[in-house]
Amino acid sequence: MEERRLGPVIGLGTWNTFDRDTARAREVLTAALEAGCRVFDSSPMYGGAEHSLGAALECRRDGAEIATKIWTPSVDEGRAQYADQLRWFGRVEIEQIHNLVSWREHVHWLAGEHEAGRIGRLGVTHYSPSAFGELARALRTRRFTTLQVPLNPRERECERELLPLAAELGIAVIVMRPFGAGRLVRRPPPAEVLEELGVATWAQALLKWALSDERVDLVIPASRDPERVRSNAEAGAPPWFDAEQRALVERFAR
Ligand SMILES: NC(=O)c1ccc[n+]([C@@H]2O[C@H](COP(=O)([O-])OP(=O)(O)OC[C@H]3O[C@@H](n4cnc5c(N)ncnc54)[C@H](OP(=O)(O)O)[C@@H]3O)[C@@H](O)[C@H]2O)c1
Repeated sequence: MEERRLGPVIGLGTWNTFDRDTARAREVLTAALEAGCRVFDSSPMYGGAEHSLGAALECRRDGAEIATKIWTPSVDEGRAQYADQLRWFGRVEIEQIHNLVSWREHVHWLAGEHEAGRIGRLGVTHYSPSAFGELARALRTRRFTTLQVPLNPRERECERELLPLAAELGIAVIVMRPFGAGRLVRRPPPAEVLEELGVATWAQALLKWALSDERVDLVIPASRDPERVRSNAEAGAPPWFDAEQRALVERFAR
């Protein structure tokens, strides 16, 4: 798999996949690691996902990077979420402020943890274009070195301001919702289209579509199915799509 600034370009999202089901988490994680994925994205918002992820990692922690989040308006609660994460993961490679919740309050203590070497990178996330102006303001403080936003053929608002800004400031980009939370993979195009794109599945086409933008470092598709996790990871190797192939994907992404 190709590596960019955050490592192998396909990671794994954990929203709505295994929650508290540790056995399922272990299967999905094993498939992801064997397929060459390294970054696992989670959040206190995803029920028991962080706990299950920590349990599933067991002795494989060194082969993984944890991208998780702080999600609360309260600094005390944020510190408690972080304490849980240290218990489950030992360290946090990428700590993100989920949906920018109280980011101005959290950034101070998180920066202290980063300076002490207990957090690798600090980042911000948001799913909604209505918050992209605030995301840009957060990035301009230069306190953050990762940005997580949606990018797929039906959600391209980040291309307007955020991707150019991230490129200008040297901020690594993580793509959430590459399948539009599942909506875009429900109606695949005819087999000839996949053949023309040189991929085996429509999901792979959507992942390659995102990764063909060189400003993107990492895409984090979520799946509860180990076979799909393996197959999705195959999209992480070149060749990437040219402009014509990207346009073809856009035409069929409904
Ligand atoms: N604000 C934030 O910070 C924020 C917001 C949204 C998402 N995220 C992160 O981004 C990750 C990805 O986004 P997402 O989970 O919303 O959506 P997504 O990755 O776009 O789509 C996930 C859906 O696609 C299905 N799927 C996966 N691989 C497939 C395949 N090969 N064929 C057919 N269906 C497939 C999954 O179903 P199965 O499980 O049945 O395979 C699941 O329903 C999240 O898990 C989370 O880690 C962050």
